[in-house]
Amino acid sequence: MSLVQVRREGAVCTITLSRPEKLNALSQALEAQLAEALADDAVCSSRAVVLCGAGRAFSAGADIDEFRNATPAGILAYYRELGQVYERFAALPQPSIAAIHGYCLGGGLELALAADFRVADRTALFGLPEVSIGILPSSGGTHRLVRMVGVARAKELMLLRDRFDADEAFRLGIVTEVVDEGRAVERSLEIAAQLAELPPLAVQVAKQAANLMAESSREAGRTIEQLAYAALSQTVEHREATEAFTEKRRKP
Ligand code: COA
Repeated sequence: MSLVQVRREGAVCTITLSRPEKLNALSQALEAQLAEALADDAVCSSRAVVLCGAGRAFSAGADIDEFRNATPAGILAYYRELGQVYERFAALPQPSIAAIHGYCLGGGLELALAADFRVADRTALFGLPEVSIGILPSSGGTHRLVRMVGVARAKELMLLRDRFDADEAFRLGIVTEVVDEGRAVERSLEIAAQLAELPPLAVQVAKQAANLMAESSREAGRTIEQLAYAALSQTVEHREATEAFTEKRRKP
């Protein structure tokens, strides 16, 4: 049974979590198929990736039935292998957009946070219920959320809030754009098409550089910028774009 679907249109790839009867709960089988999808040629050679959920939710989070009896050793083994899928998604060289509707909870929100951008429709409902069931967001979500919204807000969302909607997620800076009901995928595809038009190497390097800045000292960050520019200055895309500007053929 296919729990993850990959569809390529032009330079853009759409990955659909497809376990709608369980609100796309992230079972290990689904995570394994997501890992396979990320290694698929159609995804690897695309210029931008949209991740969405089938049915009435983006994802209601980790599969509670599966992790209920997990042991500490089992959990650590999981994160050495299958649980890496969240990081693999984040590490895609090309930009990614999570198109969110309905529930986006727990591990579902962690997966969405691993995308570069999030577009939510008005039905989107976010939440991190982990602490209320005696655990914490542990697929990169606690780390990403703190960097995205700050420590105090992250604690608020993890400890005090049950659910928050798309407008609030936008105010917090978690969501890039809020759209009308049913338009999240369509709008994400538009953004993906816009990203796909940009020079691909510059996009990849800018994405990686931005990710590294959060981990770097000012000095290291400045060095990354300068080295990245030095490398990109030699690309055909950069040469052509600057020549076109000088020759008044087009604006960069
Ligand atoms: N893990 C496993 N199964 C899940 C799930 C999860 N995280 N979230 C939903 N499902 C399953 C339900 O068990 C149900 O399966 P069933 O029809 O075989 O009984 C199906 O998906 C539909 O969910 P249901 O609860 O009937 O829908 P609802 O609209 O009444 O409620 C939620 C939706 C999201 C509020 C509710 O399903 C829920 O609280 N899910 C758990 C969310 C969570 O805590 N996630 C984080 C885990 S760390």
